[in-house]
Amino acid sequence: MGASASIARVMGAEVLDSRGNPTVQVTVVLDDGSLASATVPSGASTGDAEAVELRDGDRRRYGGKGVLNAVRHVNELIGPALTGLLADDQWRIDAVLIELDGTDSKSRLGANATLGASLACARVAAQACHLPLCRYLGGDAAHILPTPMLNVLDGGIHGNGGPDLQEFMLVPLGAPTFREALRYGVETYHALRELLVERRTVTNVGDEGGFVPVLSSNGAALDLMMQAIERAGYRPGEDISLALDFAATSLWHDGRYRLEREGRSLSAQEMTGLCREWGERYPLVSVEDPLMDNDWDGYAELTRELGDRMQIAGDDLFVSNRSFLVKGIAQRCCNCVVIKPNQVGTVTETLNTARMALAAGYSCMVAHRSGETEDTSIADLAVALNCGQIKAGAPARGERVAKYNRLLTIEGSLGEGAHFAGRAAFQRKR
Ligand code: PGA
Ligand code: ZN
Repeated sequence: MGASASIARVMGAEVLDSRGNPTVQVTVVLDDGSLASATVPSGASTGDAEAVELRDGDRRRYGGKGVLNAVRHVNELIGPALTGLLADDQWRIDAVLIELDGTDSKSRLGANATLGASLACARVAAQACHLPLCRYLGGDAAHILPTPMLNVLDGGIHGNGGPDLQEFMLVPLGAPTFREALRYGVETYHALRELLVERRTVTNVGDEGGFVPVLSSNGAALDLMMQAIERAGYRPGEDISLALDFAATSLWHDGRYRLEREGRSLSAQEMTGLCREWGERYPLVSVEDPLMDNDWDGYAELTRELGDRMQIAGDDLFVSNRSFLVKGIAQRCCNCVVIKPNQVGTVTETLNTARMALAAGYSCMVAHRSGETEDTSIADLAVALNCGQIKAGAPARGERVAKYNRLLTIEGSLGEGAHFAGRAAFQRKR
């Protein structure tokens, strides 16, 4: 891109996500003719403090979930404000968006409007510079392919009728390359399907492409995954480890965490005990949101007890927001932050949170949302950060596979320069 390529047009559109809900797509055109789009994902088990996803609330359209107001903000407010800015000045673009919005939560413009614009600017600038997005955002240093965390059993609010826990993930950390890690994961996913068929259990999938079997307990889900790994010819813990997302805020009822499938309710301490027990019985390398999103003391305690033996990932606790992460670092809550650009609403703020986490010795897990699109930006983001972890759902369904396919392309294009994160991504630093 010549230093002169500047933003000529910004256009918003209402399109659909993988659940058939409306979402925002933004296309940016530069004065050198470059053009690129970005599409924003949408969560279901959202943290309380996430930036605001603006929905129209007009019940006559999409049950109130339309995003025509956010699209209008892109066309009428964001477009004029960004026109003329240099496309590769991401910091300034995002500063303009933040100022134009003027709220802490992006509630005026909508974080779906701001992220769509922010990300589309990054994508078009990368294109104008003839760089892959990962190199545009991360520079020449971007070369680490993340270890994929493949969600193969969906429960909670993503998998109605399935396990209580939201996500049961395979972590093929023993593979030599990303391509091989993906193959380990896919073969195990297929072995898991076979096991479910043999047990005459349904093999329907949930929002993120994981199976949603009816099982008597959450431990039974972990046992099944262990069997699937072995059936596929891999060694649990050596080739493939396990990770969980409890999404515990959605388990919280009447002051306790309810595991409905098991007919029991647990306190925060008992949840910690459950993580320890599972950590002893299974090759469990990461637990996400094991407590609800306002229990900072509980997180400090849990991290003190378990943080040296497994990754404790904060998603709803930090909502990718630097101010919450600052609090978490001070109080030693968790040792990993989940990074989702739409939780905070601009590319710059996303990068800032992730970089602060890495500098503080926390790991970063770049993540999709349960409502996704064909947009693959998070794959590039994970490589740009060299953070070594991505969770993008099952190795099935187009919107999930798109991210993994993008990583295959990046790995191929980096050639000898590519390095697979593997087990090193889960080595405990603190
Ligand atoms: P969400 O779930 O996208 O529905 O918020 C993903 C997660 O909790 O990690
Ligand atoms: Zn989560």
